[in-house]
Formats: sequence, C-alpha cells, structure tokens
Amino acid sequence: MQRRVPLGHPDFGEVFQCRCQRQEADRSRLERLQHYSGLPDDMLQRMTFGAFDPAGSGADVQGRATLKAAFTAASTFASSPEGWLLLTGTHGSGKTHLAVSIAEERIKHGEVVFFAFVPDLLDHLRATFNPNSPVEYDQLFEQVKSVPLLILDDLGAESSTAWAQEKLYQIVVHRHNARLPTVITTYLTMEEIEEAHPRLASRLKDATVVHWVPISAPDYRDPQRRQPTQTRRPRR
Ligand SMILES: Nc1ncnc2c1ncn2[C@@H]1O[C@H](COP(=O)(O)OP(=O)(O)OP(=O)(O)O)[C@@H](O)[C@H]1O
Ligand SMILES: [Mg+2]
Repeated sequence: MQRRVPLGHPDFGEVFQCRCQRQEADRSRLERLQHYSGLPDDMLQRMTFGAFDPAGSGADVQGRATLKAAFTAASTFASSPEGWLLLTGTHGSGKTHLAVSIAEERIKHGEVVFFAFVPDLLDHLRATFNPNSPVEYDQLFEQVKSVPLLILDDLGAESSTAWAQEKLYQIVVHRHNARLPTVITTYLTMEEIEEAHPRLASRLKDATVVHWVPISAPDYRDPQRRQPTQTRRPRR
C-alpha cells in the first residue's frame, strides 16, 4: 500500500506493508524460525518459562536453590545470550524444559535457533555423510557449527563411536573458539564428562565462557516425588 502524503514528502510514492500484511509476514517468519529450530510445536508450547516451577517437585531446600539458580541463569541467558550455559543434573530435573524455554524466547525475538538432541544429531550427520543423501553433509554440519544459538540437548546419551565423538568435538571446538552462544544439557556429572569426553570437558570447564549450573532436584516425572495434594473438605 502507499501512504497519502504531500508531494515532496520522503514517503511519497513509497510502498509500505499494511498492518495485516506486516502481521502475516511476522507470523510466517515465526513459523519458519520454529520449523528451522527442529523443535516440535508441542514442546515449544509446553516447556516454557511460565510453565516451569522453580520449586520443583519434592525437592529439598538445596535442590530448590539449584532449580532457582538454573531458572534465573536460563532466563538471563534467554534475554541476552552470551557465552555458554551448561545445565547438568539427573534425569527429569528440568534441563530440557529450560533449554526449550530459552529456544522459545529467542525464536520470539526473531533469532535463528537450532535445537539438537545430540544422539539424533549425530545419526543425522552420519546419514547425510552417505553420498546418496539428499541433504549435503557439509551443509548440516556448517549449520550446526555456525547457527547464532545452538542447543545441544542430552550430551552423553549418544553412541560413542570415534567418528561421532570427533564430529561432536569439532562442533564444540568451533563454537568455543568463536564464543558462539550455546546451551548444553547433560545428565553426566563433570567427572563422568571428564572420563568419557576429556577434550569436551576441558572446554566445558572454561569458566570465562561457560556458566555451569548443576541442578540437584529429583525426577519431576516421578509421581511418587510429588507433594501430597491437599484434599478439599466438602462444603457443608
Ligand atoms: N521444575 C519444573 N516445573 C515444571 N515442569 C517440570 C519441571 N522440571 C521438569 N518438568 C517437566 O518434567 C518433564 C521432564 O523434564 P525434562 O525433560 O526437562 O528433564 P531432563 O532434566 O531433561 O531429563 P533427562 O536427563 O531425562 O533428559 C518434562 O515434561 C518437564 O516439562
Ligand atoms: Mg532432557
């Protein structure tokens, strides 16, 4: 559309998007970014900061403190991603939930995010390595290495062939050298990472780049951990 402006006005003759076109363009960009991230819609809708309970479920005082610290670190990172955020903790402690919340927040800001479940990523790379693959191996590898925000979810759950380890190492080293914003979640302890991935551990321990938040909360998925809910007395 064109604006009605007097002759000589800088907007004279210029074509502008109307509000509904702008909204449509924003919506389609958001959809493209969500699709690009690789995150299914249901995860993006379910695992938000708003749905995260920093008190956890059945966590003791110390566990609640670590959950709160992880929630604060993830929210801070989501508002301004700098360096790396490393979330460690046992299964079901909320690592993936917080990582997805960060992705959702950054996508809303119009940023390109790539969410990689590490075992799937390495399988994918291996598949594209096949000369008959429709996706170029280099293309996917470059994409993961250089995307503005990368989330590596569940590091340590991948099969540890030498090839897979090498690929992971190359991605991590590139992003560490270039200081590219990266979120890593793992159920491994730092000692286990050191043992299984000594070269990765050295990068992950670089406190000038990495903000490491260990979570020590019980499995949120386990119903037995949940606080007993108060039963309401029937009204008289
Ligand atoms: N503090 C919390 N508040 C609300 N929901 C939570 C919280 N912690 C975990 N959940 C929910 O519990 C489930 C398990 O959490 P999540 O997938 O983040 O665990 P995880 O630490 O990544 O575990 P794993 O190591 O097995 O991958 C998810 O559905 C998540 O939304
Ligand atoms: Mg997880």
